[in-house]
Amino acid sequence: MKTAEYNYDIVRSFVNWSILWGGVAVLVGVLISFQMVWPDLNYAPYLTYGRLRPLHTNAGVFGWAIGSFFAMFYYMVQRLCRRPVWSAGLARFQLWFFNVTIIAAAVTLLLGFNTSKEYHELEWPLDIMVVILWVVFSVNILMTVFKRREEPMYISLWFMMGSLIGVAVLYLVNAAAIPVSLFKSYSAFAGTNDANVQWWFGHNAVAMVLTLPPLAVFYYFLPKATGAPIFSHRLSIISFWSIVFMYLWTGAHHLLWTPVPDWVQTLAMAFSVMLLAPSWGSVINGYLSMNGQWHQMKDNYLVKFLILGITFYGLQTLQGPSQAVRTFSAFIHYTDWIPGHVHMGTMGWVSMVLFAAIYYMAPKLYGRELYSIPIANLHFWLVLIGQLIYSVSMWIAGVMQASMWHQLNGDGSLTYTFMETLVELYPYWLVRAISGIIYLAGLVLFIYNIYMTARGRQESAAAVDNA
Ligand code: HEM
Ligand code: HEM
Repeated sequence: MKTAEYNYDIVRSFVNWSILWGGVAVLVGVLISFQMVWPDLNYAPYLTYGRLRPLHTNAGVFGWAIGSFFAMFYYMVQRLCRRPVWSAGLARFQLWFFNVTIIAAAVTLLLGFNTSKEYHELEWPLDIMVVILWVVFSVNILMTVFKRREEPMYISLWFMMGSLIGVAVLYLVNAAAIPVSLFKSYSAFAGTNDANVQWWFGHNAVAMVLTLPPLAVFYYFLPKATGAPIFSHRLSIISFWSIVFMYLWTGAHHLLWTPVPDWVQTLAMAFSVMLLAPSWGSVINGYLSMNGQWHQMKDNYLVKFLILGITFYGLQTLQGPSQAVRTFSAFIHYTDWIPGHVHMGTMGWVSMVLFAAIYYMAPKLYGRELYSIPIANLHFWLVLIGQLIYSVSMWIAGVMQASMWHQLNGDGSLTYTFMETLVELYPYWLVRAISGIIYLAGLVLFIYNIYMTARGRQESAAAVDNA
């Protein structure tokens, strides 16, 4: 099929908007990091930490990550099915509805409307908007797959479809609520049931949003970047089905040592540990696909992003199962260790893979070579250094915090007051804020590079297409 027949317009638009929301997410991330160091930066009531934090997580996960996945799913599905997207009109509607939803989310969060369920903060009218958005998106992708011109289904399509169905199920169940006014509702579940459903949703959001889609992207763009095939299609299929099956049981690892029944906690713990195997199935598949290609780590910036990305995924899925073990959880739960874990996944794994995919697609989308490879390399080093400093500083802070909380005097009383433990965290929070600036600098370079590539679009006569 000719490249001209693919609908790149929608891919370009989603890339641009997701980059914008990514910029907002990281800017707000840096701001809340500084608010923790200097609480005077909290401007009541709209710009306090409590309102900006959910804005940061929503802009990061929904605006940047999901916005980019919209772009990449539309790119990959057309290529893998060798046909244009099923409905260009529906895709355009989705783009505008996506932006309206994100803006409505930002405004309502800043106004203080919040269900208080993490990653599901939006009140019920916005829930309905999210559902419409997801249905429109899923129908368009699934119809493109059903009407495909290429019979075999590459592994990325499985990961994409798993995510579409998984998110729909999770979101609908956790959204069950009774509205009492336009912006206030109460969960349909109560007490420990509510907590259990919420974290079944919460951790599977990690699975269906921050694991399956980036794996779809990784499996598609690694062979594109290296020019060599994936090591084993069979291993990727086994890894897909076992990941989908195992993740669904792990949510209660967020609720260890709570009134949730012991057997539910133990089940979650066991499945979390087992999850290590299918997660590493993909990591090993990625590494083995590099056989004979490792030299590309030196001079191919796309490979650097992708391989560091999958490495962080590997480390993340080693750390995650250990955090799900009761004894270790008793030590690190509620401490700064957890944001360290989270950002190795979000700033490292997910964002690195997204950067690579956008860099790869840019020449195809804009019909000219990337504006500057040296800038892309500098971007790589800045986000890598920023992310490492962020995570390592939070891990050290978390261990220190946990140790101080657990320190007892001879008579069994606590050695430190809560305030004393808090004061010790300030230097680490400052280091985290500085790491945020480094990461932000990398992001600015990335935006500049993509902008300059896009700007030259009309100037360039030669459309680059070799995929
Ligand atoms: C084998 C895979 C994984 C397991 C078993 C796992 C396990 C865990 C556990 C036990 C916690 C809760 C820690 C606590 O609060 O005590 C946690 C938190 C979290 N993990 Fe993972 N993790 C895994 C992979 C990932 C990946 C790939 C990401 C991608 C970004 C991720 C993102 C998160 C997030 C966002 C939270 C914070 C949730 C909150 O707001 O409390 N995890 N993980
Ligand atoms: C410069 C980059 C970033 C900075 C400085 C930053 C900063 C922060 C801060 C200060 C928090 C609150 C931590 C706490 O509760 O103690 C946070 C939480 C969070 N951020 Fe970021 N962030 C950055 C990038 C990102 C990106 C790109 C994403 C998503 C793609 C993201 C997703 C999250 C999530 C899911 C949480 C909740 C974590 C939890 O509850 O443990 N962040 N971030």
